[in-house]
Amino acid sequence: MTVSDHSYEDLLKKAENFVRDHMAGYDPSHDWPHVDRVRRVAIRIAKTLEPQPDMLVVELAALFHDLDDKYRTESSPTLSDLLSPFLSHPCLTSNQAELILKIIPNISYTSEIKSRSKNQWTWQDECKELFAVQDSDRLDAIGSIGIMRCSAFSCKINRKLLHDNEDDGHGAEDHFEEKLLKIRDRMKTPFGREEAERRHQTMVSFLESLQKEKELLQ
Ligand code: ADP
Ligand code: NI
Repeated sequence: MTVSDHSYEDLLKKAENFVRDHMAGYDPSHDWPHVDRVRRVAIRIAKTLEPQPDMLVVELAALFHDLDDKYRTESSPTLSDLLSPFLSHPCLTSNQAELILKIIPNISYTSEIKSRSKNQWTWQDECKELFAVQDSDRLDAIGSIGIMRCSAFSCKINRKLLHDNEDDGHGAEDHFEEKLLKIRDRMKTPFGREEAERRHQTMVSFLESLQKEKELLQ
């Protein structure tokens, strides 16, 4: 093993290449550029936090965040098997590796609700590394990029764009009420809250404009 095999850069490059390959077949709502945006914004958020979170943990958790069970089938390896070549890298301590493995399944709002329902103070309520990745992933679902991802995902699942009044069929536009307009109130960091407010207003004006366009159809 050469010196460079022991560097952070080596670990991050290997992780990045692995995730790039892994996401290659996914639609634009969950592709490599989504992961890359989540990684970059997570780092921005983490830098604003005091005390500063472990940046390597933030970056790796962001890179791996969508390798969770969303796309998993019966035969898929477990997250820890999938990540073991990276988590056993000489740059990473076992505590860091454990934290990354703990963060990934706890990013989604659904998992947050589950841990809340147990009604006790848990590590999830104070983990700054988790907050940075969580807020970043949530920000990517709202604002202009969020609007585009919502269209992309709807296309992938063959969901119509607009609400169909005739048979009360739900379309992509309904996803704003279902979820996207609620995200602003679920942010964990001051940076996340401020950016979410701006992105929220973008969605509100988009929806107002969409209503005007729909009025022409009546
Ligand atoms: P992530 O895990 O990256 O936070 P999700 O898996 O929740 O994101 O959703 C991926 C993207 O697809 C998001 O931008 C979200 O708005 C969109 N999406 C998810 N469910 C729906 C749906 N039922 N209709 C339209 N868009 C959806
Ligand atoms: Ni994501």
